[in-house]
Amino acid sequence: MKKRDFLKAGLIGLGAFMVPGKSAALEFYPRPSGKKWAVLFATWCGSSRDAGIWVSEGMGGIANVFDVRENPDLSGYDHIVVGSSIRSNLIPGSLKEYLEKNRRSINGKVRGLYAVCGNMMQPPGREQYAAFIDDQLAVLTGASAVPSKVFLGRITWGLMDPDVRERMQAIPNMREYDNLKRTECMALGREILEATNSV
Ligand SMILES: Cc1cc2nc3c(=O)[nH]c(=O)nc-3n(C[C@H](O)[C@H](O)[C@H](O)COP(=O)(O)O)c2cc1C
Repeated sequence: MKKRDFLKAGLIGLGAFMVPGKSAALEFYPRPSGKKWAVLFATWCGSSRDAGIWVSEGMGGIANVFDVRENPDLSGYDHIVVGSSIRSNLIPGSLKEYLEKNRRSINGKVRGLYAVCGNMMQPPGREQYAAFIDDQLAVLTGASAVPSKVFLGRITWGLMDPDVRERMQAIPNMREYDNLKRTECMALGREILEATNSV
């Protein structure tokens, strides 16, 4: 091989490993479906991401699952599920901003809601549904009377920013836990699909 051809071949080979200008997010590829479904989630440490994927699995894997930080364009979707993690009784500002900004492309399409919280490891009750679903997610999405669920989530020290971890570890009896249940998330997915298909 001539020196020039050798260099050219090397450069083409290198190109295959280069990151494109806008690197692609880890996309979740849905299974085929007559209607386009999306799950939009907001998370700090991943519980709401896993909940979203399991909600989609409960629907037969037909929903594409998006992190709100990807700023997805949901205008082409027919049905949307919105889920969020909770810190200090609030959903992340990024989700609030996204829902306010994209009100028009989401309005009338939200078929289900979920929140993921710690709730001191106690089963969520009326208070948590009111605070996380009714007063935040339902208001911001304009969805009323759609299937909704508050799930218990997880604490994983290794996934937290050091200052947050320090504050959390200072709380008496606080420890790592994993209370998120795939079966419960899948059950919500099934419920949302049935409620939507029966209309
Ligand atoms: C700094 C911090 C604040 C939290 N605040 C609350 C809270 O106000 N109420 C609650 O029920 N759970 C609270 N939690 C628990 C989280 O909601 C729970 O760990 C959840 O699984 C986090 O979701 P993520 O993994 O998607 O970020 C808090 C957790 C952290 C780390």
